[in-house]
Amino acid sequence: MSPQDSLKAQVAQAALSLIGPGAWLGVGTGSTVNFFIDALAASGLKVAGTVSSSEASSARLKQLGIPVFASHEVAELDVYVDGADEIESHGYMIKGGGAALTREKIVAAQSKQFICIADESKWVQTLGAFPLPVEVIPMAAARLIQCFESLGSGVKASLRMKEGKPWVTDNAQHLLDVRGLQIQDPLAFESLVSQWPGVVTVGVFAHQKANVCLLGTAHGVKTFYF
Ligand code: 5RP
Repeated sequence: MSPQDSLKAQVAQAALSLIGPGAWLGVGTGSTVNFFIDALAASGLKVAGTVSSSEASSARLKQLGIPVFASHEVAELDVYVDGADEIESHGYMIKGGGAALTREKIVAAQSKQFICIADESKWVQTLGAFPLPVEVIPMAAARLIQCFESLGSGVKASLRMKEGKPWVTDNAQHLLDVRGLQIQDPLAFESLVSQWPGVVTVGVFAHQKANVCLLGTAHGVKTFYF
């Protein structure tokens, strides 16, 4: 296992200790969450059920015998566990590198508490070095690229591609990746971009920030509360 994967496995294990038996659990998406799903299955901890943020996580949960429910079947989730592409000292994050940002924001909003599990490479002073994912309605993509690029001369937005075609999300929409940002006020930035016509979800999670971050470091798992 690589050193980074070892940190991911440690934070996944640490998250289990914050979850009680019978909890309703939101489950995110990505390689760190995959460690969490595997650790949950191996632990024998019985949760009431899960709501997942992607087809990939749902498939992994079901394969390991963990019950998965649709979002509308559950009124409220006790805890949402997910990774991040970047997280800063207020618990604000960039997410969506794995293209699941819209369902991640929905499940996070449905949860009482957001536990972010991340290795130390994700910890930043200012959000924006990681290309910001934005899920968009396809017909708006070209105009939204212009909107982002009008924010500053160093800002470049591009359509995420896969095998020569636009990437299609679980929600049948497209994705932009925006480079060259330095997001000084994540709450204001998320509010601004969210109201541009054609934006489905912007990958800044400030209104749905983390409440807890379990950060895997070379000196052990550090816990931050926000
Ligand atoms: C997926 C996400 C992930 O949480 C984020 O990309 C981190 O992934 P990983 O744990 O693989 O580094 O937002 O849309």
